Amino acid sequence: MASAPLVDSRGLSSPVDGDWNPEDVSFPEQFAWGAATAAYQIEGGWDADGKGPSVWDTFTHQGGDRVFKNQTGDVACGSYTLWEEDLKCIKQLGLTHYRFSLSWSRLLPDGTTGFINQKGNCSFKIESCAALIQGVDYYDKVIDSLLANGVTPVVTLYHFDLPQCFEDQGGWRSDTTVKAFDSYAQFCFKTFGDRVKFWITINEPYVVAEFGYEKGIMAPGVKEPGVGAYLSAHNLIRAHATAWHSYDTLFRAKQAGFVSIALNSDWAEPLNPADPADQAAAKRHVAFCLDWFATPIFLDGDYPAIMKSQVSVMSKRQGCPASRLPEFTEEEKMMIKGTADFFSLNYYTTRRIKHQDNTHSQPSVTADKEAEQVTDPSWPVAAGSSWLAVVPWGLRRLLKYIKDTYNHPLIYITENGFSLSDPAPLDDTQRWEYFRLTLQEILKAIYIDRVQLKGYFVWSLLDNFEWTAGYSSRFGLFHVDFNHSALPRVPYKSATEYARVIANNGLTASHG
Ligand code: BGC
Repeated sequence: MASAPLVDSRGLSSPVDGDWNPEDVSFPEQFAWGAATAAYQIEGGWDADGKGPSVWDTFTHQGGDRVFKNQTGDVACGSYTLWEEDLKCIKQLGLTHYRFSLSWSRLLPDGTTGFINQKGNCSFKIESCAALIQGVDYYDKVIDSLLANGVTPVVTLYHFDLPQCFEDQGGWRSDTTVKAFDSYAQFCFKTFGDRVKFWITINEPYVVAEFGYEKGIMAPGVKEPGVGAYLSAHNLIRAHATAWHSYDTLFRAKQAGFVSIALNSDWAEPLNPADPADQAAAKRHVAFCLDWFATPIFLDGDYPAIMKSQVSVMSKRQGCPASRLPEFTEEEKMMIKGTADFFSLNYYTTRRIKHQDNTHSQPSVTADKEAEQVTDPSWPVAAGSSWLAVVPWGLRRLLKYIKDTYNHPLIYITENGFSLSDPAPLDDTQRWEYFRLTLQEILKAIYIDRVQLKGYFVWSLLDNFEWTAGYSSRFGLFHVDFNHSALPRVPYKSATEYARVIANNGLTASHG
């Protein structure tokens, strides 16, 4: 078989390791092959059958050009009514696992278990309640049909779509949301946990905190630099840990499942590898993203030391009476420590990092970090996302870092992908090349670095509502025509290639 070069012309692969060629080996047996989606990004039916509003409904309906062309997820891929079409895509790929999220306010319209949106429970005036799909029934159908087709459901409880009623009470800055999340989580474990064995409590708390409550560029659009992100992250961690304990004490013995939290992170390389200041800044870049959440949850219940000292010093310089980073009580630290049954990683990109002296800056997480991101012009950028520099070898380094830092956990890559821009060609050969190089790096991580990597999920199954980029940025393995009322799904070349890899459990046919 022809072997692919390990270092391509643009340096996208990591250096050659002896004669070892990732095209020659299989993925481990039982490797989980998946694709991922999220409720708000695909479902549509934003107010169908009793669903309550979420912060993303409010944010998009307010307009104001915060989203590309003021687009919304009101219809999106229509998955709420077109689930069978999604299932066809899943089967066509031969996925072993499918990751999707539950819409909290579709299940519990006012966010609480006071009213459950289920057949037979009708809170609003409509002739025949029996004709409705309703929240619980919809997800029952999704889960049951996945299982009937031999596909393992991986369920995210919260993927950015907080019920609006909780945002009205302070959102993730408030303890009310922490308590409500636990009730919601318990409701989901109780309702679906007989069939769902892989749970992710919260998707990307970093993104929720930083973009939702610091920069305000994503819902709920709160701009509280230097304060809002730390406070909401603090509560997101507490909410995750509380829900994990609820599973552990109330459901695990009977349901025997696994619960984690999906953490996103860039990999960071010092701009000048010989400069200790840049080296330290690169470490801070990872500390203020991945370690912010992973250190308390996987190690000791507390924030990384570098983050604590950095925020404390900066706060003092700015004349704050105390550090802007909240503190966990000793009891909370004990409660948070060790609350993940596997490591769920979302990886998209790598940055070059330069030390930045922010002595006189205004409070913000970015300033606290004192690390400036520099774009490496030699890295290609995904056509549909200016932030997504394609660096497959960064994933390998990040995986090794997680192995070494977090006690060699079982890891699932629960998101990775590359966007096309609209209009997107069905022949996405170059994008598949990115996937192929990424899968090579994953094989190196597994066989050379001995990372316990158990699965890989492409973001995303379908082109969908890409948050502030609306429908202009296309991450799907299947193209969706949003101008056509039937919202037809058509495979990109990457879908066909990914199906081949899954069928072969390797990059070439010899592994089939
Ligand atoms: C999120 C997805 C998003 C993807 C691409 C991740 O941060 O979990 O919802 O679509 O990145 O931007």
